[in-house]
Amino acid sequence: MDVFHGFLHEGLQGWFDPVLTDLKETESSIRAEYQVSYKGQMAKFLGLTDRADQVTRLPITIQYNYPHYASSLQGISALYLMRLPVNPTESRSFALFFFKVRLPKWVLRFLRPLLSWAIPKFLLHRFLNQDIDMMESEQQTYLKNPKRRYVEINPAIIALQRLIVRQYEQFMQQSSQSESRSGVSHKPVAEDALATQPEQVSRGFVR
Ligand SMILES: [Fe+2]
Repeated sequence: MDVFHGFLHEGLQGWFDPVLTDLKETESSIRAEYQVSYKGQMAKFLGLTDRADQVTRLPITIQYNYPHYASSLQGISALYLMRLPVNPTESRSFALFFFKVRLPKWVLRFLRPLLSWAIPKFLLHRFLNQDIDMMESEQQTYLKNPKRRYVEINPAIIALQRLIVRQYEQFMQQSSQSESRSGVSHKPVAEDALATQPEQVSRGFVR
């Protein structure tokens, strides 16, 4: 959801200059739309622009509907992500990434095994490793001082945090009601779900 972190991928020629253009909030979902800029050989390779020295602006949308995230870069790529809370400080992510390859079908059929190996290794994992480093660092910073004050400036993240906390509170309420009815005590799964949020809650470096 935090498209403002493009500077993290600066060295990989990721996106830059993000602008939040639309934000929709319902009882159970958040949808944010941003305009982002691309430039460089990577953008050309991905078909985002015809010229590496030109800046291209494109809309990107991100939708949250727990535990699903879906983002799409108009006409170019789509990412589906599912978050699975594992324990209070760990969550697991499952992702499917799709993007258009500008090659004739017969060439693609021939190159598919090679591309399926090369694209994750030389493109996706390089971005992902930076994201993982960032999230681990956020989690460690949070654990060192959970009461640390921070400033969040992205309205989409603020809306997301608000929704997640609300969903957690609703779950806790339902779970305590069902416990009092059945007389059985169990640890709610959502406790872990909220506990994975410090990586977002501790965020204080958005620019
Ligand atoms: Fe990232």
